[in-house]
This record gives sequence, C-alpha cells and structure tokens, in this order.
Amino acid sequence: MTVTLVTGGAGGFGREIGARLAARGDDVVLVDRGDAAAAAAELPRSPGQRHLGLHCDLRDEGSVAAVFAVTERELGSVDTLVNSGGVREIVSILDITLAEWDDVLATNLTGTFLTCREFARRAVSEKDGPPRAIVNIASVAGLTGISNRPAYCASKHGVIGLSRNLSTDLGRFRIRVNVVAPGTIRTPMTESYYHDQDFVDSLTAVVPLGAGGTARDVADAVAFLSGPESGFITGAVLPVDGGWSAEKSYSVNTNSAYHGNGR
Ligand SMILES: NC(=O)c1ccc[n+]([C@@H]2O[C@H](COP(=O)([O-])OP(=O)(O)OC[C@H]3O[C@@H](n4cnc5c(N)ncnc54)[C@H](O)[C@@H]3O)[C@@H](O)[C@H]2O)c1
Repeated sequence: MTVTLVTGGAGGFGREIGARLAARGDDVVLVDRGDAAAAAAELPRSPGQRHLGLHCDLRDEGSVAAVFAVTERELGSVDTLVNSGGVREIVSILDITLAEWDDVLATNLTGTFLTCREFARRAVSEKDGPPRAIVNIASVAGLTGISNRPAYCASKHGVIGLSRNLSTDLGRFRIRVNVVAPGTIRTPMTESYYHDQDFVDSLTAVVPLGAGGTARDVADAVAFLSGPESGFITGAVLPVDGGWSAEKSYSVNTNSAYHGNGR
C-alpha cells in the first residue's frame, strides 16, 4: 500500500489532494496545525485502507520529525510527500514587518525544506526502497511577481529552486521531485477575493480558460506527478492556472486596438 503524507491537509487543496489520492488507494496522512484529524475522518476509505490526521507545525523541526516517526510506526515509511501547507501575506514592501516576513518564509519555504529533508533521509536509508515522489505546491507567485506579496513571492520562488535542486540530488535514489504552480483558485486562503466582483470579472478576462479552476484540478495534477504515469518526469514545474502565466496581456479589453479591435 502506498503511504502518502500531505501537509496543509486540513486546507482547501490539502483536503482535495488527500481525497483524490485516497480514492486511488493510498493510505493518506493529513498533517496540519488545524484540525487534521477531522479532515482525515472525511477521506474515502475502502476495507483495509488506513488514514491518519496528525497535528504539526511546519516551522518546527521537531514537530515535522514527529509526524514522520508516527506515520512510520503506524503505516510504514512514506512513499509520497505532498507539501500543500502554506500562508500568504498581503502587504507592501513598505509596510511588511520582519515578523510577517519571517513567518511566511518559515512556513512556506523552511517548512517545505524540513519535510523534504526528513522524507529524503528516511527514504535514502532504506536500501532498495520503492520509487518515491515529492510534489511541492508552489504558486504562479513562484514564476512571476504578484503585487503586495513580497514574502509570498520570495517563498514560492524558493520552493521552486529547492525542488529543482532536490530533483538533481535525489534522482539516483529513485526519488522524483516536481512542483505544481496553481493560479488563483477558491479556497479558504483566497475566499475573500471572491467577495469582490471586480476581481472575479478580471479573472474571467485575464485567464484564458476563465475563472473556473478548482481544488480538484490541483489534486489531479498532484495525482499525475506522484503516480507511475509521470515516472520519467522530475524537476518539472506544472502551472495549473488556466493559462494565466502563459499569456499576460497589456489590455483585458479584447476589443481594444492592442488586440486588433477584436479581429
Ligand atoms: N488557493 C490558491 O489560489 C492558491 C494558489 C497558488 C498556490 N496556493 C498554495 O497552495 C497551498 C495550499 O493553499 P490553500 O489554498 O489550500 O490554502 P488553505 O489556507 O486552505 O490551506 C493551507 C493550510 O496550511 C496550514 N498551515 C499553515 N501554516 C501551517 C504551519 N505552520 N504548520 C502546519 N500547517 C500550516 C493551514 O492550517 C491550512 O490548513 C499553499 O501553499 C498556497 O500558498 C494556493
């Protein structure tokens, strides 16, 4: 049985990723500083399949080590690690405090480093272990600058750099490392955006596939990058953003001169 550990497992993407991977048959461990146990209780479960929900603070080295130790004791060693835990600030470079900067970097980047290191140390110590995979959830904010998110953008660029490094160093141990870079998708993290009709209208205008992305789209990408169908893929960054990062126009008005007056 494949054992999959998902950080941010009580969050919007984490729950959906857990459900998607549980449905394909994985034993799933949801890890979160929120109510991971309640989230794990909702996962689909066939006879013989076991899931866990464990409390963890990703900023804390001991807390990260502890969830891997408990998982190994209860279910066996982790085959797939998905890092979906994260936080985001919205504040300008002029106003952000050092404490705000440190918290975002500690959670998003150092937290990803800590789980990847724990996973890699345990996997590498196993002689002739199975092929394994890490999928880190970055963001389109790891591919480009997004305003008023200095720490978030820095942390997500860092997650992509770290993942590329790990893919080169861990390949010989049969550990693949890939990244999913979502665009804006409705979850508790982004819920407030959707109360602003101007924002929803602009998403529809600037995203080639429109505003309809869901957490399930992210979970499907994670299922692909952690499954045998992507067995020769490592070091890749897969945007799940409806095309936003591929085409960024100077005008959202497709009838403007810039767009050829709609022709
Ligand atoms: N929703 C989007 O539009 C979007 C877009 C791009 C990237 N992302 C990224 O996807 C990931 C998941 O985001 P989401 O939309 O599901 O957000 P979310 O807020 O619903 O989930 C994030 C989860 O991370 C957990 N978490 C935060 N800090 C933690 C810590 N120190 N220790 C343990 N758990 C912690 C939270 O409790 C929460 O359950 C994040 O890394 C986020 O940056 C989200």
